[in-house]
Amino acid sequence: MPSALPIADPAPSDGLLIPGPDAGEVPFGVYVHVPFCRVRCGYCDFNTYTASELRGVRRDDYAGHAVQEIRFAEEVLERSGVPRRPVSTVFFGGGTPTMLPAEDLVMILRAIDETWGIVPGAEVTTEANPDSVDADSLETLRAGGFTRVSYGMQSAVPHVLATLDRTHDPERVPLVVDLAKQQGLDVSLDLIYSTPGESLADWRTSLDQAIACAPDHVSACSLIVEEGTAMGRMVARGELPAPDDDLAADMYELADDVLGAAGYSWYEVSNWARGEAHASRHNLSYWKGHDWWGVGPGAHSAVAGTRWWNVKHPAAYANRVLSGASPAAGRETLDEETRYVERVLLAARVRGELATSELRREARGRVAGLIARGLVDGSAAVRGRVELTRQGRLLADAVVRELLD
Ligand SMILES: C[S@@+](CC[C@H](N)C(=O)[O-])C[C@H]1O[C@@H](n2cnc3c(N)ncnc32)[C@H](O)[C@@H]1O
Ligand code: SF4
Repeated sequence: MPSALPIADPAPSDGLLIPGPDAGEVPFGVYVHVPFCRVRCGYCDFNTYTASELRGVRRDDYAGHAVQEIRFAEEVLERSGVPRRPVSTVFFGGGTPTMLPAEDLVMILRAIDETWGIVPGAEVTTEANPDSVDADSLETLRAGGFTRVSYGMQSAVPHVLATLDRTHDPERVPLVVDLAKQQGLDVSLDLIYSTPGESLADWRTSLDQAIACAPDHVSACSLIVEEGTAMGRMVARGELPAPDDDLAADMYELADDVLGAAGYSWYEVSNWARGEAHASRHNLSYWKGHDWWGVGPGAHSAVAGTRWWNVKHPAAYANRVLSGASPAAGRETLDEETRYVERVLLAARVRGELATSELRREARGRVAGLIARGLVDGSAAVRGRVELTRQGRLLADAVVRELLD
């Protein structure tokens, strides 16, 4: 089962917000969570459900429920006095959005467009498993307004995929990348490194195979062993070794070298793109603190200074939206201190995003020491930006802690 929700204030059933004075001044995006997977990967604690866990909810009904929440969202924003903005980015994540027929995803996207309007040239992404798309579904997605697909490739090495419980055939990845490109879709590949048993040579193979597909964008994340997952239990019982931090650091450096040499440059600690135009605008909007409405079970939202998260199970979610009540389970309003901490935490990981002038005086005083230790880039600092060096990216959490101490 997925992990628990945060603890905070109860959310009002009418969902109304109390917008701050600068409400509506940042771009607005929509995230749609699709909580279905064919099987659960042993390492994953995302809010997703296999057929036997759905307690009678039908996947076929999901698009209707999501559209219900979109209508509800329109009313909440209107009644709360949040200025109306067209949608700059849309991201369908999961779970596996492409477990639903492409027509259902397009129906939800159409509802978003009818409700707020989607700005011309907006980025519209769906995540997908390589074995859950084909030429027809990709064509339907493109014709319906999708511009980008992000495939969960994870690895090209069979024994690594097996440890991760991934079910797709690695040979399918280049095929589905080509199919997406034929449709004119931007393509991203998600990779995971430091899986137990994975060698540096295995990781190099995965990087080479990913690059051979010539995607527009690559995410490479270190495996997190989550408590409460099947993999977490195997590591706790000693049946699998825990990932090795030193090897993970070598793997990160190798990724940065290999991706860099192939023309991909980093724009966030775990993300590389073939030029700025291919960076994920939706993910950047989270890191930059923009507003977004998260549709679907367990989805998080942040609008006009309030953050909330929906009930997690699709059955509870369906009950809420069908009765016209807010699907939110809890919410919080951030005080100034928390907003500052979060801003530094997120912006420091994005290349060129954090201005030195945003830091408090004590933190500004620490930047010179971080430059001297090779963790922050000196030339970017001259331009007034706090930008991590490669060594700084390897130690990003420690650098941020030092800035916030
Ligand atoms: C919702 S999934 C993407 C779509 C699709 N379900 C898939 O897995 O291909 C988002 C990404 O998060 C990654 N992820 C999930 N749990 C993770 C973990 N414990 N450590 C690192 N990455 C993880 C997945 O591998 C996947 O690439
Ligand atoms: S397919 Fe993706 S969302 Fe589903 S269990 Fe695996 S990693 Fe998690």
